[in-house]
Amino acid sequence: MSRIVIRNGEIITSMDRLRGDVYCEDGVIRAIGAKLEVPAGTEVIDASGQLVFPGGLDPHVHMELPFMGTVSADDFESGTAAGICGGVTCIIDFCIPAAKQSLLEALKLWDEKSKKAVADYSYHMAITWFSEQVEKEMGTVKERGIPSFKHFMAYKGALMLDDDGLYRSFCRIKELGGIATIHAENGDVVWNLQQKLIRAGKNGPEYHAVSRPPEVEGEATNRAIRIAEVVGMPVYIVHMSCKAALDAVIAARLRGQRGVYAESLINHLLLDDSVYQKPNFEAAAYVMSPPFRPKGNPDALWDGVKAGMIQTTGTDHCPFNMSQKAMGKDNFTLIPNGCAAIEDRMSLLWHHGVGMGRISEQQFVSLFTTNACRIFGLYPRKGTIAIGSDADIVVFDPTKTRVFSAKTHHQKVDRSIFEGFEAKGAPSHVIANGKLVYKDGDLRATRGAGRFIPRAGIQLI
Ligand code: URP
Ligand code: ZN
Ligand code: ZN
Repeated sequence: MSRIVIRNGEIITSMDRLRGDVYCEDGVIRAIGAKLEVPAGTEVIDASGQLVFPGGLDPHVHMELPFMGTVSADDFESGTAAGICGGVTCIIDFCIPAAKQSLLEALKLWDEKSKKAVADYSYHMAITWFSEQVEKEMGTVKERGIPSFKHFMAYKGALMLDDDGLYRSFCRIKELGGIATIHAENGDVVWNLQQKLIRAGKNGPEYHAVSRPPEVEGEATNRAIRIAEVVGMPVYIVHMSCKAALDAVIAARLRGQRGVYAESLINHLLLDDSVYQKPNFEAAAYVMSPPFRPKGNPDALWDGVKAGMIQTTGTDHCPFNMSQKAMGKDNFTLIPNGCAAIEDRMSLLWHHGVGMGRISEQQFVSLFTTNACRIFGLYPRKGTIAIGSDADIVVFDPTKTRVFSAKTHHQKVDRSIFEGFEAKGAPSHVIANGKLVYKDGDLRATRGAGRFIPRAGIQLI
């Protein structure tokens, strides 16, 4: 039997702040209160002067993803271990079937890969093609505990789904009581812009952002939301990066469309397109989609966060080493798209959010874990500190300074997009499934300790 008590911390949830103890037994929170009496032999963590948060959910990661001719560099073990160091105790990865592959076959592959996870996980199921078979299999996927389905409106010739597919998939999701998640960029327009740039000899990584301007994201965001409106079902825009897309979300919410949600990445909240000016192909380290945006967009996203128009944050953790990025040395369209950040979000969101007076402590918790847990059906098992919830807890030292660098991070990638950044506030202890898995820099993760967490349904928040 595992027993841990966290003593005398400031317990902060999306609703409350109170000083007290949290007692966990066999992976579950059993008691919360002042000066709790606990059985002899219980492991004690002294959280005096520290904050006690529910463990983080990263609702958007890609471990060991076959993509653009290579595979993302973190697998489920190293990626979830890096997450633990950054206060993330649960992830939702994306199960992405290849062209014409059965959803259930893809699910088997993901189940195999995820066995080595050190922290709990679930998947969104990607709908990369549509047929009667897919329609039927979506029902089985939902019964397996996966009620969220991902659609790529970009990556023409690979993962992209056209409007016919979107509409038919949305109708099926409505029948199943699930939610659609969307990578919103107009893939046809992006493809044409890419070809034009390459024909003009503009083939360096600095042209990646030029080929995917904010307008293509704004248009696709609006289109996805409007299709969801026609069907009458909820929709969640992933990695929303710019004001043009935020405007579409705000317009939908203001006209009373229910169930329109947006996720922004810590990446897009903190970086702008000046990163593409880095010389010597270093800009390739920042090639992800949507790309980093012109100045003004990060501030617009923060305004969206403050106003509650953006409900969740994630990282789209999908690392590629520079040796992999080099696949696009002579043609930016061949640079594998993706960056690492699973380990970085907590401290950065705290520092730039609460530390800089943009959001409250409760909003921080909502954005770091609770809202995504609610939308995707993990709450209240995860995303809060409550009796009966999983014992996934972060003890956070608000005085500790963290300096970000590829030299010291646990992510298996040779660049940090936040190289040299500093943040005040970092986890001192992380408890996952009732076990102390991180203590002051000492990672004690166990390969295979993570569990697939079935999700019953979604919650409209
Ligand atoms: O560039 C990105 N975002 N890579 C991962 C795949 C995706 O689009 O989310
Ligand atoms: Zn995407
Ligand atoms: Zn992604």
